[in-house]
Amino acid sequence: MHQFLPYAWFGGKCVPFAEATLSVATHALHYGTGAFGGMRALPNPADSNEILLFRADRHARRLSQSARLLLTELSEDTIHSAIHQFLQANKPTCPVYLRPFVYTSDLGIAPRLHNIETDFLIYGLELGDYLSPEGVSCRISSWTRQEDRSLPLRGKISGAYITSSLAKTEAVKSGFDEALLLNSRGKVSEASGMNLFIVRDGVLITPGVDQDILEGITRASVLELAKTMDIPTLERPVDKSELFIADEVFLSGTAAKVTPVRRVENTDLSASRPVMDAIRDRLTAITEGRDPAFDHWVTRVRLNG
Ligand SMILES: Cc1ncc(COP(=O)(O)O)c(C=O)c1O
Repeated sequence: MHQFLPYAWFGGKCVPFAEATLSVATHALHYGTGAFGGMRALPNPADSNEILLFRADRHARRLSQSARLLLTELSEDTIHSAIHQFLQANKPTCPVYLRPFVYTSDLGIAPRLHNIETDFLIYGLELGDYLSPEGVSCRISSWTRQEDRSLPLRGKISGAYITSSLAKTEAVKSGFDEALLLNSRGKVSEASGMNLFIVRDGVLITPGVDQDILEGITRASVLELAKTMDIPTLERPVDKSELFIADEVFLSGTAAKVTPVRRVENTDLSASRPVMDAIRDRLTAITEGRDPAFDHWVTRVRLNG
């Protein structure tokens, strides 16, 4: 059972978590017509009265864009203000994961996005490592990543996660930790909730934004960081067979951070991952507020009293 933070943002204010409840007839529950975000908030290891948020501006922008894809309005300012009030109410003392969610809150039937009420909530939970930092085994899923022509993949639309759920469970039930999904063109897309990188001959390669990926904020950060570390990067289609011969394969995401892939199907990969190690160390320092060169990626929220 997760350890939830004591207050949720619900109906425009902070209320005790147990009181933030929805009707069984809530439209989004039935049709997947919601969109969510996922952010980590970390008490500053050097000052526990300060909470560090990694790339809060990017997260707010993506959520606001996701809302637009659901044909509703949720401004970045509204998101930032709610997150600040949420953090002040909860005053987290350990690393937490914030889950903001915009959704059709109307009661009743008929799949639609017009003439419908929407609402916005946030809850939080304590979250350590989502995947083992030592590495994961991955199965290539029998499920195909959706296409942008049938679903707006630039948003974190909740209904889309049926495919992630099927793929993850298929992987776990067949003895793997995580699933890698190919897209409808047969190219590697991403994992169930993470983007994917490979390293070949010193070049850091990741499927481009035209490969039906979610445009991950960690992914963008890894690419930007690599450029400043003189690591050559390439965004291009990745073939399945490359997964078996890559020098390194790793996953990136807010929950998973940077996680090595140690096995794909029945092929063990090298345990030496110099490129991933360098990027992971740097990213950890940034998220913990220890890298002045990237302090602009960190929002510092001072807790009152
Ligand atoms: C399907 C999917 N891909 C990739 C990611 C990684 O995105 P980010 O780095 O923004 O967390 C996530 C997590 O949010 C996801 O759900």
